[in-house]
Amino acid sequence: MSLTAAIQSVSALVSSAKSSSFLGQGVGPETRFTSFSMPLLPSRKLSVCKCVSAAPPTEQTAHKTKVARNANMAKLQAGYLFPEIARRRSAHISKYPDAKVISLGIGDTTEPIPEVITSAMALRAKELSTFEGYSGYGAEQGEKKLRAAIASTYYKDVGIEENDIFVSDGAKCDISRLQLLFGANVKIAVQDPSYPAYVDSSVIMGQTGLYQKDVEKFGNIEYMRCTPDNGFFPDLSNVSETDVIYFCSPNNPTGSAASRDQLTKLVNFARANGSIIVYDSAYSMYISDDSPRSIFEIPGAKEVAIETSSFSKFAGFTGVRLGWTVVPKELVFSDGFPVARDFNRIVCTCFNGASNIAQAGGLACLSEEGLKAMNNVVNFYKENTQIIVNTFSSMGFNVYGGQNAPYVWVHFPGRSSWDVFAEILEKTHLVTTPGSGFGPGGEGFVRVSAFGHRENVLEACRRLKQLYQ
Ligand SMILES: Cc1ncc(COP(=O)(O)O)c(C=O)c1O
Repeated sequence: MSLTAAIQSVSALVSSAKSSSFLGQGVGPETRFTSFSMPLLPSRKLSVCKCVSAAPPTEQTAHKTKVARNANMAKLQAGYLFPEIARRRSAHISKYPDAKVISLGIGDTTEPIPEVITSAMALRAKELSTFEGYSGYGAEQGEKKLRAAIASTYYKDVGIEENDIFVSDGAKCDISRLQLLFGANVKIAVQDPSYPAYVDSSVIMGQTGLYQKDVEKFGNIEYMRCTPDNGFFPDLSNVSETDVIYFCSPNNPTGSAASRDQLTKLVNFARANGSIIVYDSAYSMYISDDSPRSIFEIPGAKEVAIETSSFSKFAGFTGVRLGWTVVPKELVFSDGFPVARDFNRIVCTCFNGASNIAQAGGLACLSEEGLKAMNNVVNFYKENTQIIVNTFSSMGFNVYGGQNAPYVWVHFPGRSSWDVFAEILEKTHLVTTPGSGFGPGGEGFVRVSAFGHRENVLEACRRLKQLYQ
C-alpha cells in the first residue's frame, strides 16, 4: 500500500470511528468527551466523544472467542451519566440545529496553557532530536528534579520528601493503580456524591457486590452521605469500618473543602479503625480559605494516608497528562510491610514513567514564573465560579461550593436532577451535570462547572436569569 493510500485508509477509519454510535459507551465519566457544545468562542471539536474503546455488538461478529467476560465489568452501570448527557445533547442539537449550545457540564479545562510552561515542553521536545538531549525510558517514579520540586512546593512544611512522591500520568490513572495495590479483598468507603472513578475502579477490581437498583448503590461499598445538613462532611459515627476511604477535598462534585477540624476527625477515624485514606487533592490550588491543601497538614496523617494530585486543573494539563501520588514511608500494612514498596512495584509493573516532555512542563509549572502563571489561570476560573455563584444566589437558589473549587452545586429541592438538567437544556441550550450521576446523595442538585471561556459563562448566566428570574 502506498503511503498516501495508507493515510487515506487511516483517515477513513478515524472518521468512521468518530461517527460510530458505540463511542459513547465505556470508561470513567469526567473525561469522556471533548466538548458537549458549540462554544461561542474559538471552537474546539464539535461534540465529539473521546471514548473509542467499545467493541461492536456481538450480533455483528461472526466469530466468538471462548473467553468469558470479566464478571466485574458486567456489574458496571454502563457509564450511564456522561453517555446519557451526550445522547440528550445530540438529540437537542438535532431538534435545534441553530442553537448555540454552551457546556458548563464537564470538568475539562478550556484556557490555554501559559507560555512559560509550553515553551519548556517545546524545548524538551526539540532536545529529543539531539544526541546530547535524547532520553528514552526514565525512572518509573519520575524525574528526581520534578519529585524534589513537588515535595518542596506542596509539602515543604509537612515532612514529605522527594522519595515519597511518585510522578504519574494523572490522578485518575493513579486511582486505578491504587486499587490494584489493595486488591480485591478490601472494602472501600466513598463520599456520596463523589467522583465516579473511585466506585467504578472498585467494581472492576471485584471489591463490590452487584449494583442495587432500589438504593442506587453497589453492595460492599460504604457510601458516606455528604449534604448541606452535615456541611458536606460525613457523620463518621454512622460509617462502618472500612479498609480504604476515598476522600476528595475540595470535592468534585459538591465544590466543598473540608476544614482542618473535619480532616483531623477523618485522620483520627482512620487511625482508630486501622484504615487507609486515599486523599484526592486534584483541586487544592482552588482553595481560598484556610482549609488544608494537603491531608499531610494533619498530624498523624502520614501513618494512615496516601495523597493523589494532578497538574490537570492547576495548569490545564488535562491533555498533557501529569500528576503524582504521595505514599509516605511511614505508612505500613497490617504486617508492617511498607505500602510505598508495594506501590513502587505496581508502578514499575504497570507504568513506564510519565512523558519526559510532560515532566519538563511540570518542572516549569513549579518555577517561580510558572507558579504565578498557574495561579492566574486558577484565578480566572475562580472569577467564573463567582459569576455563576452570584447568578444563582441572586435568584434565590441555595448554592454550595464555588469558594474553594471550580464547581458550583445548586440545589433544586424536591426535583429530580435529570428533570432540572432537561429543563435547563430545553429552555436555555445549556448543558449542566445532574447531581444524581455522582451517587444517590446528589439527587436534587445540578453541578455547574466554571471551566469555560468568560464570554460563554456570561452568556450562560444571562440565559439562566431569563429562565429562573
Ligand atoms: C476529583 C478528581 N480526581 C481526579 C481527576 C482526574 O485527574 P487527572 O486528569 O489527573 O487524571 C479528576 C478529573 O476531573 C477529578 O475531578
